[in-house]
Amino acid sequence: MDTCLTYGPTSVVKAGRPFRDLTDWNFENKYGWLESQWQRLKAPVEVNFRELVPLGSGVDRATHLFHPYPAKLLLNIPLFFLNARQVTSPNSRVFDPFCGSGTVLVEAMLSGHRAAGADANPLARLIARAKTRFIPEVDLMRSLQIVLREINPAKTSGFSPVVKQELWFIPHVISDLSALLDSIRRTCEGNILTFMEACFSSCVKRLSTSDPRLSVPVRLKGDALNSHLGNLPDVKLLFEKTARQNIARLGKLPEQSCGCEIEEDARRLEDHQSQADVIITSPPYAGAQKYVRASSLSIGWLGLAPENNLRDLERQNIGREHFSKSEYASGEYVQDLANDFINTIQSINPLRAHIADVYLQEMTVAADAITRRLANSGKLVLVVGDNMICGRAFPTSALLKEIFLKKGLSLTLELVDDIRSRGLMTKRNRTASTIEREHVMVFQKE
Ligand SMILES: C[S@@+](CC[C@H](N)C(=O)[O-])C[C@H]1O[C@@H](n2cnc3c(N)ncnc32)[C@H](O)[C@@H]1O
Repeated sequence: MDTCLTYGPTSVVKAGRPFRDLTDWNFENKYGWLESQWQRLKAPVEVNFRELVPLGSGVDRATHLFHPYPAKLLLNIPLFFLNARQVTSPNSRVFDPFCGSGTVLVEAMLSGHRAAGADANPLARLIARAKTRFIPEVDLMRSLQIVLREINPAKTSGFSPVVKQELWFIPHVISDLSALLDSIRRTCEGNILTFMEACFSSCVKRLSTSDPRLSVPVRLKGDALNSHLGNLPDVKLLFEKTARQNIARLGKLPEQSCGCEIEEDARRLEDHQSQADVIITSPPYAGAQKYVRASSLSIGWLGLAPENNLRDLERQNIGREHFSKSEYASGEYVQDLANDFINTIQSINPLRAHIADVYLQEMTVAADAITRRLANSGKLVLVVGDNMICGRAFPTSALLKEIFLKKGLSLTLELVDDIRSRGLMTKRNRTASTIEREHVMVFQKE
């Protein structure tokens, strides 16, 4: 029987085979100093999380680099809070309602806590499950050999038509990827299948005709396309290399890490799940990052969209930007935050005003569910920057602060950090780009 329940058993880092980074993180003193500064200044305290948690940039720590999911949280941030006694005690229940590819969940396990999450994107849920489940190296290596051996060009796995396959992949890559996926699905099951599908997904975009510098698929053209196609790696070799790297990464998880329970929608969290002692999360923005579109090539290959319909998946996404004219034609706004901002935008671009209004409505619903999930005296760490809508600053961090204060939480600390390496926004939609400062707010439920 699987002993992993919602929060699984304790993942004690130093028991069993130790995690190779044996640094004993302890940020109690630094946290105490920041708190006293905040109380004295009555204003956000400037910090640099890369200095607070000195890890070196782009560090290949445990399973964080398993997959290039967009807009990942800087791992130094959860690492800091998960190792500050003021926020967590050993074996805390840590929850991330917008967990994406699982940065918070992985760090929670590495810090000896239990973790669970939610994400509306089925690809994010697949990756987060794969990244948080320890599987012995010998089992994975054996399965990898079988997958590679059983590839048979006559046996193929279909592509669900959420996007035009022939636009994004050239014919021999289509044949090779379908034979590989077929072999994975014929020869693997359970957690190993999840692991192999997540590895498959992390190769897909690299093998497509899309611009590798952008998080959403944008087809290359002319010379850039020709030179990209000239340098395409072999499908089987790329998959083998990726899987081997990820097998090594998984070996750095505590052996007790038994995968996280991941729910689907932060607005509809299950009330029967146990409460969380700590919630650490970086929520989506209004119209600034297209998670479903960024995942669409993998969603197509892995058949992750119900009814092969990306629009239905997008509808579950807070911050989405596709609305029909009839949805925003009335010009009536439901929530009463940011009225002036929304009225100003309304005269320039009614669709963008509607996007902002729906975002605030839906974040209010999510804030309600998140607050209910938090145990009494529990802490919520919210990591959020501000962004632009129609070229105007949209104060997301202040608005979300107001939403959570209205839910009865109290603010106990506010920090700001410059973001230096997140250039993940779409090229097309420059007006929605994020401002390069991240607010980190710590709330407490009384
Ligand atoms: C800023 S990203 C989180 C990234 C994550 N911290 C990581 O390191 O990978 C925001 C996430 O919110 C998710 N999201 C959007 N709407 C959601 C909803 N209604 N419920 C849960 N997750 C949602 C998106 O799919 C995206 O993965």
